[in-house]
Amino acid sequence: MDEQVAGVAGVVVLAAGAGTRMKSRTSKLLHQIAGRSLLSYAIRAAEHLDPEHLVVVVGHEREQIEEHLADIAPQVTIAVQEQQNGTGDAVRSGLEQLAGVDGEIVVTYGDVPLLTGETLAELVGVHRANGDAVTVLSTVLEEPFGYGRIVRDSDGDQVAAIVEQKDATPAQAAITEINAGIYVFDAEILRDGLASLTTDNAQGELYLTDVVKFARGEGRDVHSHILDDRWQAEGVNDRVQLAALGQEANRRLLEKWMRAGVTILDPASTWVHDTVDLAPDVTLLPGTSLEGATSVASGATIGPDTTLIDVEVREDASVVRTHGSLAIIGVRASVGPFAYLRPGTELSEDGKIGTFVETKNAKIGPGAKVPHLTYAGDVEIGESANIGAGTIFANYDGVTKSKSVIGKASFVGSNSVIVAPVEVADGAYVAAGSAITEPVGPGELAVARGRQRNIPGWVAKRREGTKTHQAAAEAGDNEGTAEQ
Ligand code: UD1
Ligand code: CA
Repeated sequence: MDEQVAGVAGVVVLAAGAGTRMKSRTSKLLHQIAGRSLLSYAIRAAEHLDPEHLVVVVGHEREQIEEHLADIAPQVTIAVQEQQNGTGDAVRSGLEQLAGVDGEIVVTYGDVPLLTGETLAELVGVHRANGDAVTVLSTVLEEPFGYGRIVRDSDGDQVAAIVEQKDATPAQAAITEINAGIYVFDAEILRDGLASLTTDNAQGELYLTDVVKFARGEGRDVHSHILDDRWQAEGVNDRVQLAALGQEANRRLLEKWMRAGVTILDPASTWVHDTVDLAPDVTLLPGTSLEGATSVASGATIGPDTTLIDVEVREDASVVRTHGSLAIIGVRASVGPFAYLRPGTELSEDGKIGTFVETKNAKIGPGAKVPHLTYAGDVEIGESANIGAGTIFANYDGVTKSKSVIGKASFVGSNSVIVAPVEVADGAYVAAGSAITEPVGPGELAVARGRQRNIPGWVAKRREGTKTHQAAAEAGDNEGTAEQ
């Protein structure tokens, strides 16, 4: 099918329904799969047709939906359907925003997230090739219950009518080709057809589907385009379907990335949002979840058991058993296992954030290492500096947060506290166990701890008869009197 479908006159996205079965205070259309709202998928697919007008029909929870649209698609026109009197009534509301518009009008739903723009373009292609008044997207289901059925002419070529489940005769109910609810209409037929609708049916609603019969009555053509990929016709009505479609969306995304050169060891336990960008030769290990605006460059390995939200991972970096958000991980840098990167973490090339390390607003220079058991908040660590195990950057005095700086190639001994605001210059040392509150100059060693004092014979006097006492005696402690 021609991919280059030139723009259609209008797309109307129906989004006024109640979504009661979600049992949620959030509008159904704002629930997400693969990190994007259901509605955003409908908008993206519609935009693929390059429509002159894009109208979203809202009704239930319209404030939430309008606010969301202002965020993700401020260019769309909003139409309001005051009462939900059926899909025909919803499209009437939409057309009020399209007065005088001629040509092709595509109708689609806000809650069918796997439908692609390419499928819509195919549907438009079929519509044009046939010179149809209406072209219906359909699919064949083993269990068609609940859907409108496609009733064909006796010769099987054209669609004679669409019959809703509740109005179907047993023979019609046995038909397995169903209406996906997505159509291309000739605008004029659509207007006239909608004007002719009645509520004379089992649900007392205005059925958009009755426009099909109307068009045929006018001597115009109606064909269906049968979709092999039934997932694309699937809507979300409850959280069970939300999970099923979310899983399928993820499966499709992972397949796309694997075909683009990404190694994914265990697709079943790997989740990648639709908003994520991956390069060829990235490796994702089991239990990895990549969310938001995360990007991973070539040669990097993520996982196992890692969640990254809005994180930029650069070439050949490695991130093991880590939770990170709004962070940058530099070229060849290594993170984890068991690291927690909070917003504002920037690890430069060849740097290391190791085991049981938490960072926040931490700029860590090229080749610098924070390998073990550290909290690094509001800190700048210079190139090639080394931060000893158990170092704490104390950035909060209970009232304000302050920053500390560790200079280039400096060395902070284990179990130190760097009390901000304070600066350790380039090429300086901090002795292990220090509490640093004053600046340290270049080339200086700062020692900020009690001096060591040994008390001879203490064990013999205070721990007489213990195993320790015996060991001391065996080791030659002459002050002791342990039995020989
Ligand atoms: C409709 C079709 C049915 C098709 C099915 C596919 C009609 C009469 N029937 O069924 O043939 O198989 O979709 O899913 O069209 N909506 C509004 N305003 C309304 C009513 C619905 O905006 O007054 C929106 C809903 O939010 C939803 C969509 O239209 O996104 C479909 O509505 P829904 O009630 O789910 O479809 P059915 O009428 O059951
Ligand atoms: Ca539905």
